[in-house]
Amino acid sequence: MSDGVRMHDERAAEPLRGQGELLLAGGRMLDPASGTDQHLDVRVRDGLVAEVGSDLAAGDAEVVDCAGLWVTPGLVDLHTHLREPGFEHAEDVASGSAAGAAGGYTALCAMANTDPVTDTAAIAELVARRGREHALADVFPVGAITKGLRGEELTEMGEMRRSTARVDFFSDDGIPVADALVFRRALQYATAFDAVICNHSEDPDLTAGAQMNEGEVASVLGLPGWPHEAEEVMIARDLILAAGVGARLHVPHVSTAGSVEIIRAAKAKGVRVSAEATPHHLSLDDELVRSYDPVLKVNPPLRTEADVHALRAALADGTIDCVATDHAPHAAETKDQEWEHAPCGMLGLETAFAVVNTELVASGLLDPLTAIARMTTGPAAVRDVGAHGGPIEAGRPANLAVLDPQATWTVDADRLHSRSRNSPFHGRELTGRAVHTLLRGRFTLRDGQVAASAAQPQEETL
Ligand code: DOR
Repeated sequence: MSDGVRMHDERAAEPLRGQGELLLAGGRMLDPASGTDQHLDVRVRDGLVAEVGSDLAAGDAEVVDCAGLWVTPGLVDLHTHLREPGFEHAEDVASGSAAGAAGGYTALCAMANTDPVTDTAAIAELVARRGREHALADVFPVGAITKGLRGEELTEMGEMRRSTARVDFFSDDGIPVADALVFRRALQYATAFDAVICNHSEDPDLTAGAQMNEGEVASVLGLPGWPHEAEEVMIARDLILAAGVGARLHVPHVSTAGSVEIIRAAKAKGVRVSAEATPHHLSLDDELVRSYDPVLKVNPPLRTEADVHALRAALADGTIDCVATDHAPHAAETKDQEWEHAPCGMLGLETAFAVVNTELVASGLLDPLTAIARMTTGPAAVRDVGAHGGPIEAGRPANLAVLDPQATWTVDADRLHSRSRNSPFHGRELTGRAVHTLLRGRFTLRDGQVAASAAQPQEETL
């Protein structure tokens, strides 16, 4: 299904024309790639950063007043469920990327649990093409590790890598590759082209029938528990196998203190591992489940307060490389059910920066530059996302976010841009919000308003 369209690299290098020169003036530039935390102006011309400096003359440029705001690389999400193809009633590339733009994101990695599954070069190219045609952010498909996510037969990862979608990151997300032999072969195969393998860390035998984190709250509620060991044994197995073949392993949505310890030890030994934590696992715990509100059901489950603290410390010390949203839209007709029947997953793109800023920066656990690093350079080091994640320097595509670290707002799920409403932060007051997002110099978010989407009627069928 190759359509001969531009590849990511070419696309990233090509400026969008037709918008006049901009001067982002007076902001605090936080650019982790260059280690910059300084008040600097940024001139944007023809889709590129034209100049970075102090007190730049406006000339003919339109001045965008960034006083009191942070100017950062556009945020990068390694873990987004855009639900297209197959589940467009919950989200599609246009609505998911609108949510991304509203959250300050310019690059989204689209998970493979679509229908059909993203397990061939053709589907990966379709997702990438939908991104180019409909998205307000650049879309980087994730390829499945096994055909149909069945955990049995490896996909043609090499073909996906060589396709115009250039897939270099593979995951059966939501479903663990439980068979150690299949998983080891996947790791070996991926090393041939230095791709990253990401396994949903869950031993399915230990979680059969589980509904929430195993522990005191589960006992009180009488819900079957999901033991933390189920995550930890799988991560330990995967690390041992990855170390054995020298493969690159990425651990998604780390949720337990024990997992943090295992990853920390592996990193100390030089294993090629990276890890992510979600905003919800960094801020919410299983006490909330006493409400039986199905919006709080997620996989891995919300854990204990002690786990939340361990994740925060791991994000601060770099054991966890990045914040990834696991933005998982579910339509109301499936999510709004009694707890037992509700699917796992919660929205994340539009609240991620606010949660990190409120919970980690304002509380003094992370300095602003490190927080932005975990949302830009951190994920960009895991896989190739082209010209995203910084540095912000002359000649590079202007993929930027302008963030207000002081803006306090109350999350209203009905006003988010996702097609679904399942935000666990609905009704919460958070501090921090994207004001502008620029993708190759074009506003995808301006003054808090998402740009009209490039969305066309979805006439395309497979
Ligand atoms: O809660 C989750 N939802 N966890 C996953 O791993 C998958 C995701 C989904 O696709 O809804």
